[in-house]
Amino acid sequence: MGYADVYRSWRDDPEAFWMDAAEAIDWERKPTKALFDGNAPLYEWFCDGVTNTCWNAVDRHVATRGDQAAIIYDSPVTGTKETISYRDLRTKVARLAGALKDRGIGKGDRVIVYMPMVPEALFAMLAVTRIGAIHSVVFGGFASSELAVRIDDARPKAILSASCGIESGRVVEYKPLLDGAIDAATHKPDFTLILQRAQAPASMVAGRDLDWNDAQESAAEADCVFVEGNHPAYILYTSGTTGQPKGVVRPSGGHLVALNWTMKNIYNVDPGDVFWAASDVGWVVGHSYICYAPLIHGNTTVVFEGKPVGTPDAGTFWRVISEHNVRCFFTAPTAFRAIKREDPEGEMLGGYDLSCLNALYLAGERADPDTIEWARDLLNVPVIDHWWQTETGYTIAGNPMGIERLPVKLGSPTVPMPGYRIEILDDDGRPVPTGELGSVAIGLPLPPGTLPTLWNAEDRFRKSYLQRFPGYYDTGDAGMRDEDGYVWIMARTDDVINVAGHRLSTGGMEEVLASHPDVAECAVVGVADALKGQLPMGFVCLTKGVSRPHDEIGSECVKLVRERIGPVAAFKLVAIVERLPKTRSGKILRATMSRIADGAEFRQPATIDDPAILDEIRGAVAELGYPRK
Ligand code: COA
Ligand code: AMP
Repeated sequence: MGYADVYRSWRDDPEAFWMDAAEAIDWERKPTKALFDGNAPLYEWFCDGVTNTCWNAVDRHVATRGDQAAIIYDSPVTGTKETISYRDLRTKVARLAGALKDRGIGKGDRVIVYMPMVPEALFAMLAVTRIGAIHSVVFGGFASSELAVRIDDARPKAILSASCGIESGRVVEYKPLLDGAIDAATHKPDFTLILQRAQAPASMVAGRDLDWNDAQESAAEADCVFVEGNHPAYILYTSGTTGQPKGVVRPSGGHLVALNWTMKNIYNVDPGDVFWAASDVGWVVGHSYICYAPLIHGNTTVVFEGKPVGTPDAGTFWRVISEHNVRCFFTAPTAFRAIKREDPEGEMLGGYDLSCLNALYLAGERADPDTIEWARDLLNVPVIDHWWQTETGYTIAGNPMGIERLPVKLGSPTVPMPGYRIEILDDDGRPVPTGELGSVAIGLPLPPGTLPTLWNAEDRFRKSYLQRFPGYYDTGDAGMRDEDGYVWIMARTDDVINVAGHRLSTGGMEEVLASHPDVAECAVVGVADALKGQLPMGFVCLTKGVSRPHDEIGSECVKLVRERIGPVAAFKLVAIVERLPKTRSGKILRATMSRIADGAEFRQPATIDDPAILDEIRGAVAELGYPRK
């Protein structure tokens, strides 16, 4: 069957399609049906099935592939390499789960994981799901206050962390960040487990912090706790339009079924193959394709602690692929732009044999045609763009290489995957003609494994995703569909920007800037960047009477965002301006400012209050060196 047949088979009978896919998962009690629509427009999948995520990712493979590598840890920043078999992984995870269980963690309890890219981060996720608890992994590049917000929302009984992470050329001490977050949060965890790393051992708070290894010494291995199909496996916070992140809920059953389906059909790998997603466990790509999908499917996953460049050089990806026999490689376009900038001729590929590699997959941001062509010419393998979101957890539109290799159109992530009925809608919710831009919406129900709701925020779920276009899920992306049914994703329709594949809220940054005592008003917009895709740029109006040097206030603003949101925001561009351009009704014209900074054409909004302000904005961005040539 080709793609069109498979897609049609899903459209004709989604129930049969997903029940068939569910056969590949181990259930303690099989589901009697796939979709539960009694509470539409909120939908759930496999609710009456009983299963366990860790069982499917680890235990079930021990009998058939116990000696196979489950995880290969490769850390150029510490000079460490380690291979962990499925058998060893089961023991490690069961013991860690035992340590958690002994301290009162059980079904439904939340556990936050705040860790660098070490195998213990995966052990932590798996141990939590093993006992039916719910993890929430927080990316290490976030600052204390972001962690505190997540602690207060998820209300974890425990936090699993490490003493430090290692960034190119510097050690990031996690423990002081964790201590700060726990101090700032209203909710307090019962205990923490801290993995001490030699690069920066942490000081422990007596009675609260436990050493990772000591805590497991006397622990008995814990068995898997089987849970209902709609029981959450995890919560992952992602940026929305405000500083309050959205807790995306991932249900156990649909997650197992859908991720397992993607491994052969989308990524074209077979059990036993080595799969590498160079991302971070803190992001959805890390959840789905560093941890869960490869393990559920019986693959070997690579945990890489390093960057595409500088650890130690732009050849590090090629070394890892050839040394570990990687068959399928997944990363963000920004990583390839970083390599290309450092090694435009691809000389670092030199002596590495990459014949093991079948394809490169890109996601997380729009894959620009230049980057795709450069990567394709260099690696001589298909380069596959695919589009998805934290909310869905896996591909919405892609090129299903395990079903049929569709022709690539540069700049398009190809076609909708089974489960997704994509429509391009105008502001009134009417489908737009082929080839015209509109809001990208997905017909309800979303397929298994996607978010059924937001943690503790069902109203926000309805308002953010379901209200704008009744009967559809609003993706927040703008795009179009062409005459061949290919999907094109062009931009966000909300205040979310994408910096080096990291999803960030400009609204969140504005909240931080507004808290500066000298700032009366501000706006943050995304500007185009050759390396990171987008960068945030802040425009700040000062409170009347403030006469301190602008440079000083600008630096304080940069520092404030770094401290409150984290270095990952890469907030370094601030312009102090007299006024912000607004409509007569007072709405800040952010899109206009962003187009000015990009040097793009724009039509002056008819409702603008005072067009002269635009010249002031032009002058301010010019001082920051924008638009870039
Ligand atoms: N812990 C602590 N700090 C972190 C961090 C972590 N886990 N991850 C990033 N940071 C810090 C970085 O050190 C950097 O700090 P700096 O301002 O002091 O230099 C800042 O956050 C920005 O990080 P990053 O976006 O990684 O930029 P970079 O300049 O260090 O590297 C790239 C640029 C392109 C090499 C890098 O962004 C990259 O590899 N991107 C791939 C993106 C990716 O995997 N995205 C996931 C979605 S698929
Ligand atoms: P995240 O939730 O962090 O995965 O970010 C999801 C957002 O990133 C999407 O809504 C898009 O705006 C953008 N995105 C991800 N992948 C792609 C892609 N392949 N093409 C275009 N945009 C993408």
